[in-house]
Amino acid sequence: MAGRLKGKVAVVTAAGQGIGRAIAEAFVAEGATVWATDKDAALLEGIPKAKKRKLDVLSSKAVNAFAEKVGPVDILVNAAGFVHHGTVLDTDDKAWDFSFDLNVKSMHRTIQAFLPAMLAKGSGSIVNIASGAGSVRGIPNRYAYGATKAAVIGLTKAVAADYIKKGVRANAICPGTIQSPSLDQRIKDLAQVTKTTEAAARQAFIDRQPMGRLGTAEEIAALAVYLAADESSYTTGQIHLADGGFAL
Ligand SMILES: NC(=O)c1ccc[n+]([C@@H]2O[C@H](COP(=O)([O-])OP(=O)(O)OC[C@H]3O[C@@H](n4cnc5c(N)ncnc54)[C@H](O)[C@@H]3O)[C@@H](O)[C@H]2O)c1
Repeated sequence: MAGRLKGKVAVVTAAGQGIGRAIAEAFVAEGATVWATDKDAALLEGIPKAKKRKLDVLSSKAVNAFAEKVGPVDILVNAAGFVHHGTVLDTDDKAWDFSFDLNVKSMHRTIQAFLPAMLAKGSGSIVNIASGAGSVRGIPNRYAYGATKAAVIGLTKAVAADYIKKGVRANAICPGTIQSPSLDQRIKDLAQVTKTTEAAARQAFIDRQPMGRLGTAEEIAALAVYLAADESSYTTGQIHLADGGFAL
């Protein structure tokens, strides 16, 4: 089925690679007008047919200026996020604050910027990328990350509750372990820290997935298309797991 997002305008943050990019590409394939944004503009170059803009979601000023330029949108996907590795004792204030700024406050910024126009139109779908780590499951060495992703779920539910009668929906996706450039980096880092091979470190990530494989960004994008489209019009304030059984 194609054209599920025909006539809709979407903004996707962190669309340069990984899940954000797969979502931007899937939205284009479904007929949306897509603003693909990332703090690293060069990463956006290969996305066909999307409008591409550099956008650092750590900056309220940049987010507000971008929203003013773009005008009303139907779909907002918040994909920017960073995985801090460590326990509570490994997490200093700087690491904690950075994780919350990028993983949570960025969504607060974009929603504040794009929601008023959605309310004026009486429709909109917000899709926030949370994680299987957080309030779904506690994961070792994901202290700050898990806290931020639990906050994303709380933020999503609060927005859904506030605007449920105004035509704006908000949902969160909780991916399991998904092949992406940053996962490759985490595997490299883990191999170094644990003094093992990269193959063994990769296997450790695969082993925590009951399906015995990593997920793909396209599998997450398929769910994002559904949540963005009118076919999910009776669904709001929910977490949606695409996690290969991670939460089992
Ligand atoms: N990969 C996984 O296993 C996995 C699992 C669960 C949740 N997630 C979440 O999915 C999202 C995407 O992760 P991924 O691994 O697919 O992609 P990734 O981490 O490989 O890529 C992240 C992208 O975000 C961009 N970015 C970083 N800081 C930014 C900023 N300040 N402003 C704008 N863009 C910025 C980067 O340039 C990059 O293109 C994140 O929120 C992550 O927490 C990922």
